[in-house]
Amino acid sequence: MGLPGLALLLAAGLLHAQPTAPPRSFQLDYEQDCFRKDGAPFRYISGSIHYARVPRPAWRDRLLKMYMSGLNAVQVYVPWNYHEPLPGVYDFAGDRDVEAFLDLTAELGLLVILRPGPYICAEWEMGGLPAWLLWKSDIVLRSSDPAFLAAVDSWLHVLLPKIKPRLYQHGGNIISVQVENEYGSYYACDYDYLRHLLGSFRALLGGEALLFTTDGAQAEELRCGTLQGLYATVDFGPDSNVTEAFGAQRSVEPRGPLVRHRGRGRAGRLGCLGSGSLGDVTGPLPPQVNSEYYTGWLDYWGGAHASTSAAQVARGLTDMLRLGANVNMYMFHGGTNFAYWSGADLKAQYKPVTTSYDYDAPLSEAGDPTEKLFAIRTVISKFQPLPVGPMPPATPKYAYGRVDLRKYADLLDVLDVLTPSGPILSQFPLTFEAIKQAHGFVLYHTQLPRDVPAPAPLSAPPHGVCDRGYVMLQKEYQGTLERDGQTTLRVTGRAGDALDVLLENMGRLSFGANFSDFKGLLGNLSLDSSPLSNWLIYPLAIDAAIQQGWPHAALPQSSGRGRSGPAFYTGTFETPGIAWDTFVKFPGWSKGQLWINGFNLGRYWPRRGPQQTLFVPGSVLRVGCPNNITVLELEGAPATPFLLFLDQPLLNRTLSPSTWTAE
Ligand SMILES: *[C@@H]1O[C@H](CO)[C@@H](O)[C@H](O)[C@H]1NC(C)=O
Ligand SMILES: *[C@@H]1O[C@H](CO)[C@@H](O)[C@H](O)[C@H]1NC(C)=O
Ligand SMILES: *[C@@H]1O[C@H](CO)[C@@H](O)[C@H](O)[C@H]1NC(C)=O
Ligand SMILES: *[C@@H]1O[C@H](CO)[C@@H](O)[C@H](O)[C@H]1NC(C)=O
Ligand SMILES: *[C@@H]1O[C@H](CO)[C@@H](O)[C@H](O)[C@H]1NC(C)=O
Repeated sequence: MGLPGLALLLAAGLLHAQPTAPPRSFQLDYEQDCFRKDGAPFRYISGSIHYARVPRPAWRDRLLKMYMSGLNAVQVYVPWNYHEPLPGVYDFAGDRDVEAFLDLTAELGLLVILRPGPYICAEWEMGGLPAWLLWKSDIVLRSSDPAFLAAVDSWLHVLLPKIKPRLYQHGGNIISVQVENEYGSYYACDYDYLRHLLGSFRALLGGEALLFTTDGAQAEELRCGTLQGLYATVDFGPDSNVTEAFGAQRSVEPRGPLVRHRGRGRAGRLGCLGSGSLGDVTGPLPPQVNSEYYTGWLDYWGGAHASTSAAQVARGLTDMLRLGANVNMYMFHGGTNFAYWSGADLKAQYKPVTTSYDYDAPLSEAGDPTEKLFAIRTVISKFQPLPVGPMPPATPKYAYGRVDLRKYADLLDVLDVLTPSGPILSQFPLTFEAIKQAHGFVLYHTQLPRDVPAPAPLSAPPHGVCDRGYVMLQKEYQGTLERDGQTTLRVTGRAGDALDVLLENMGRLSFGANFSDFKGLLGNLSLDSSPLSNWLIYPLAIDAAIQQGWPHAALPQSSGRGRSGPAFYTGTFETPGIAWDTFVKFPGWSKGQLWINGFNLGRYWPRRGPQQTLFVPGSVLRVGCPNNITVLELEGAPATPFLLFLDQPLLNRTLSPSTWTAE
């Protein structure tokens, strides 16, 4: 494992030892259309990995596999909201230790293309922006709104000083830094904002850092996403026409290669790119950069499992490498949206992203080499030498089998534990943002103002429920209200009956919105068109309670009413000998959230699919003591509640909307 790092150090040492060698530099050569590293022509073949989606104990394993695949660089996003949970409060510890992650990349001899945002998309909650930005409800995100710029600048003043000494020019392994992300796809098209970011990045990183942008290869996207002073790159997948996409990139680089190379002979370009090792260079316009070459795609709850064939990915990669292009494969290793970190898209409807971010990538969600990885490695071997040595094998998985759970309590019976500070009193509903709850769940409680002898509509206005509301009357589960779905239930009851609605944030939009994605009850809940009032609003700190040992360490509760509605279930299991990675299936369960030993493994939703199992990294499990499972089931548990631990994932059970409710 030390060898690649050693090789890098030796190479660096040798360069310093030669008096004529150029100083460490990484630059764009507009004359010769290529990157130059220490003066020599250089091309990267890179892969994306997101440290926030991989448990820290697995970082080295995944990076080593990427190195052994023949990559010479990795592309890394920094999610702002992962590191600044509250304004001015920073977290760079444990899984969030981005510097430790960057140290590992350097140790393994990988270069880094860093994408610090501030917006990253990445199908990550709110595209990486902190939800607390929405405390100022009229803020215009990703624009030159002074409130947004002030927050961005304070963040960049914390992050970028950690990055500067790691730039290639300063002895580190970061060769380039992306500013914003696909800004041309955002409605605002605010050049003052991009100019401001450019100024901040320059001021904090220095004049030598290679700064770039990434946009889709459509003229409109490139128009609003690019700026003089930022090298414009594009992103596109294997089903795009490589020539056309790179042609679009060229059209927005006025100083760029396209203009200067008109009429220039092929030999001139080969002078920069090197020779034979690049294979058959036939393309007209090197060097080009595809910053996101899609190896697969994400999954949405309720959608089909996405896949792209290895052969197609290999073919497109070959085409681009033949042209001499620089390529980053997105994703090389996708990983997992643990806890509440998955984002959502807006495509006519709100579409939340699944917990798995497997992405059908060359390294699976659990970090195992796939057929696609070997196909890619074979392509790379035709253009540059592969590192000597074997590809590390898949890590063993273990089927721990069946673990019985029992109901601990209905959620409504443990509000004192989950909201120790007590509820907030409000005439009308308040959003998550208004009560400063970023993720998870908030409970809204009121009483029926009058007798309702005949079924009457309980309804939310359009876009009033973000994103799901689980409705209880007199603590009995009535059904679920859903964003862009069912927004009315019919209820009966008596004056004073307790009405509770548990609101779930399914992930803020990461892409495609021209509005801020507030959560909770955004409008009035009405009974027979008349707004309900006098609410008690409980911000639920479920994760804090579970991290402190609840409910395993607490006294048993009487298990409450039936099987339906939001409730906690618990169980334990032992890991014999070694804590292997495993996958957990939810037979007969509906929808909810899973924790093991206090670690939030994310949302499960087998009723909607396509994902049927959650990935449980072995590093979450403990040997020699019971592993504590906590499940928050939201709609309905099976008659015999148990979980099934398998040695392989089930990501592909495609259902149609008509079957969601029929189950
Ligand atoms: C790609 O686009 C170019 C230019 O429009 C065209 O000449 C070429 O035939 C296209 N290639 C494919 C495979 O469609
Ligand atoms: C998902 O399952 C369906 C039905 O079994 C199958 O046709 C499809 O090829 C599978 N898709 C993937 C990506 O495995
Ligand atoms: C913003 O979105 C709304 C609906 O989602 C649409 O009607 C409107 O045209 C959009 N505005 C812009 C500037 O894109
Ligand atoms: C809720 O209803 C009250 C009373 O009709 C009204 O004043 C208020 O604006 C409503 N709130 C929203 C968000 O529509
Ligand atoms: C599980 O919960 C028990 C009871 O609170 C506690 O003693 C034990 O340390 C927990 N186990 C783990 C692995 O966290």
